[in-house]
Amino acid sequence: MRVDFNVSINNGTVGEDYRIRMTLPTIEYLTSRGAKVILASHLGRPEAREAKFSLAPVAKRLSEIVGKLRPPIRFVDDCVGPAVQDEIAKMEAGDILLLENLRFYKEEEKNDPEFSKNLASLADIYVNDAFSTSHRKHSSTYGAATLFDTRLAGFNLSKEVQYLTMIRDKPVKPFTLVVGGVKIKDKIAALEHLVPKADKVMIGGAAAYTFLKAKGFKTGNSMIDEERLPWATRALSTYGDKIMLPSDHIAAHSPADTSVTMVKGDIPDGMSGYDIGNETIERYSAEVGGKGGGTVFWNGPMGMFERRAFSNGTINIAKSMALAFWRGSKTLIGGGDTLEAMKRSGVAENEVSHVSTGGGATLRYLAGDVMPGVTVLNAR
Ligand code: ADP
Ligand code: 3PG
Ligand code: MG
Repeated sequence: MRVDFNVSINNGTVGEDYRIRMTLPTIEYLTSRGAKVILASHLGRPEAREAKFSLAPVAKRLSEIVGKLRPPIRFVDDCVGPAVQDEIAKMEAGDILLLENLRFYKEEEKNDPEFSKNLASLADIYVNDAFSTSHRKHSSTYGAATLFDTRLAGFNLSKEVQYLTMIRDKPVKPFTLVVGGVKIKDKIAALEHLVPKADKVMIGGAAAYTFLKAKGFKTGNSMIDEERLPWATRALSTYGDKIMLPSDHIAAHSPADTSVTMVKGDIPDGMSGYDIGNETIERYSAEVGGKGGGTVFWNGPMGMFERRAFSNGTINIAKSMALAFWRGSKTLIGGGDTLEAMKRSGVAENEVSHVSTGGGATLRYLAGDVMPGVTVLNAR
């Protein structure tokens, strides 16, 4: 079973474990039917076998999550070869074994045929529940999969595909898009696909300043993606009637500034916008949570939410998302920082229709890219 346990680890302890928890339904299903489950994942982008990229802390966290009812998660410090085969030979029905980081072999990312064969030889059935890494054509996501007769989608991968396909191809109307954060470059392809289908597009976060500058506003020292200015200008001229931009801001001289001010329109020289202002919050919140029905997709925080002084916009959008959900909208959240922002806002995972596990994969899927790790699975 390919999983994406590429999570943040600090001093040997797993931070956010959402990706780990989301694989539990599939693991439970397989073990309850007597399967011996072998889990394979990458972690980070190691150059060589380095301790800080070991999946051992993940085995520990997974053991804690699955609880005391089962035997502890087994862990082996390799992902192919004799040591792994020995461990598998010792497994009984219902046991779970986590293999060491696949990327300790450079062959993994090269989709190397020999490595794929070695991986595939470990098991009888292939399951992919790693949507967030299925945009990669690697041995574990593609080459090895092709060597199995039975290659199945895990429950979380299925849910991701189902929700993201809905958003991408036929969003339940009205379709509202909320975009923030900093990485315009990574988000453009997805936006080109989604903006034409959206009824309203609300832009916040640092991304808003590139649009405001394109519109002729003064943006002070706010973060601007100069390269993407022409794109923003074009988007505004084609879709200006549905794109909403902040009309006021929380500005300061630096993120550490102890005094912040609310400004309307232009940002004064020497200052930067770090959050959307109250008037913008009201406009955006009314649009997101005001009615219910339709679909709302949110990617990217509305401000530098990590600092309390600049978290108000993001907290209000997160709460409006929850309100929209309770009022019957289909709500989707994507992006690592956005999930973090949602949590800090006090919105629970079950107050959103779907929180994507993906970063790059989700954006690629929404842009219409082919996902090798999905297409390789049996159609049914
Ligand atoms: P995601 O991971 O959800 O896709 P991004 O990585 O694009 O989101 O952006 C998240 C980051 O954007 C956060 O760390 C946040 O501090 C930063 N950010 C949001 N608004 C601003 C702003 N106005 N100025 C500077 N940084 C911002
Ligand atoms: C992710 O975190 O986006 C996935 O695990 C893929 O990781 P990668 O970008 O290193 O391939
Ligand atoms: Mg991010």
